[in-house]
Amino acid sequence: MLDINRVKFLKGITFAFLHLVVFALICVACGQDYNSNSSDDHLGANASSACTTNAQKRLCEAQQIIGDHCKSCHSGWTIYTSDDAWIRSGLVSAGSAQASKLITNLKNAGGSMPVGSDTLSQEEYQALVDWVTQIKVQ
Ligand code: HEC
Repeated sequence: MLDINRVKFLKGITFAFLHLVVFALICVACGQDYNSNSSDDHLGANASSACTTNAQKRLCEAQQIIGDHCKSCHSGWTIYTSDDAWIRSGLVSAGSAQASKLITNLKNAGGSMPVGSDTLSQEEYQALVDWVTQIKVQ
């Protein structure tokens, strides 16, 4: 009797374990899917924004830098996919790097971002500054 229960228990455990493995594999697959999308994105920020005009190219480049260095913590920023959305977020002020928290919080500008990792390169910093500075004030 006890042995049968033990066999059942072991079967149960094995079954649960297999589920876990399958689930883990699915998760990995999702992750890869997401990553391959976001690397398409890295020029496009997302499917809905093209990187054709100079203004779009600046946004695309900024999105890539932010994706690379900020979104591990600021995952909520994924919803900002246009200049307008960034302005509405309050983190970007059109035409002014000094008035944009996204810029002034950077280590490059005397702030503390990105926390726990290297200061953005001068090129990356400049790309963000160029993007913000050249957004047309409405
Ligand atoms: C390791 C995690 C981490 C990374 C990476 C990171 N941040 Fe942050 N960030 C935080 C935390 C935590 C806060 C809130 C506390 C604070 O202000 O220090 C914050 C706050 C901010 C704020 C203020 C937000 C507000 O609403 O006032 C800005 C702007 C900001 N981060 C910009 C950036 C930028 C730009 C990057 C990428 C270059 C970045 N952060 C990368 C953790 C991170």
